[in-house]
Amino acid sequence: MGLTKMSTAHIPVLKEETVQALAVQPGGRYIDCTLGGGGHASAILEHISPGGQLLGIDADPDAIQYARQKLSDYSDSILLINDNFSNLKAICYKYDFVPVHGILFDLGLSSLQLNGNGRGFSFQHRAPLDMRLNPDQELTAYNIVNHYSESDLAHLIRTYGEEGYARRIARRIVQERPIKNTLELARVVELGAGKRKRKIHPATKTFQALRIAVNHELEYLELALKQAVDLLGFEGRLVVISYHSLEDRIVKQFTQREAKDCICPPETPVCVCKHTASLRIMNKRVITPSPAEVRKNPRSRSARLRAAERVIAQEEHYSIIENLGSTAEISANGNVWKRPALLKKLRHTFALL
Ligand SMILES: C[S@@+](CC[C@H](N)C(=O)[O-])C[C@H]1O[C@@H](n2cnc3c(N)ncnc32)[C@H](O)[C@@H]1O
Repeated sequence: MGLTKMSTAHIPVLKEETVQALAVQPGGRYIDCTLGGGGHASAILEHISPGGQLLGIDADPDAIQYARQKLSDYSDSILLINDNFSNLKAICYKYDFVPVHGILFDLGLSSLQLNGNGRGFSFQHRAPLDMRLNPDQELTAYNIVNHYSESDLAHLIRTYGEEGYARRIARRIVQERPIKNTLELARVVELGAGKRKRKIHPATKTFQALRIAVNHELEYLELALKQAVDLLGFEGRLVVISYHSLEDRIVKQFTQREAKDCICPPETPVCVCKHTASLRIMNKRVITPSPAEVRKNPRSRSARLRAAERVIAQEEHYSIIENLGSTAEISANGNVWKRPALLKKLRHTFALL
């Protein structure tokens, strides 16, 4: 996919609130796990420059290519990696990007992907049934739609789409197979769901379910959240923006659990889990966009932002930094950062020495 076709810009959602929730500080080190159109990354870079560093990750190679152009003014301060955020820890250790001041997940898809980048995420544009963020992955929406059994399809559409008419839609899909493109699928789903008054297009939930299944979205989010906590330095911030209740539930339950010193079942008389809190929840109430933001950017309407702060003993944090070693050079994407300089900067920015 060429960059020209991805020209409809993505408007970053809850931009100011995100910068605030991350407590972005000059010279800091941040990870944007969902680089997308580079909107949040650009806002973070404005605040951390000069001297700060940003690691940007995206599973979609087109997003990396687009963001590299957009963020070209900051090329000395960014490291952009085309990978899945489920590999977050390995990526950070590979490039010595530990510890960090903040980690952002802005989940889902960018407007660049939804506005018809040919991968079939939207039912408003004709495209093959693909839906892969990573074009090298084997599983596509076509495989699921045309080869899954009726009961597996119904289960998937009900579970990942929270669709009440999942069985009827699955039955219709199986009757109409083969289904080759997004518009055909949208029509079949509409026929399956029947004529009912709905606030959203009848295919919305089925498309969401397929996208989640193709990209293992919920499993990867759980994996990445667990890894993110360990990468945060003293009082480092974790910020997650989600767009549907399945994602938001995972984030809420994860942060609530990590904010507790004991996670034994309530009936256990004495704690046996030995769990200690690794996070402090920063906003008891989820942050949502203002009516003005929703008017300006309707795609923001379902956004929910949650933020938490790393709870860690200063000594533990100090030992993480000392274990970074001292001599090798880090080289990636043409950037070379000398490790001794990096160490000095880390000590300085985390104010530990
Ligand atoms: C909502 S967009 C981010 C937009 C970005 N914050 C901005 O302001 O331009 C989400 C991005 O996350 C990427 N993404 C989704 N799941 C991912 C995963 N598991 N690993 C890496 N990237 C992922 C998508 O490809 C998409 O580009």
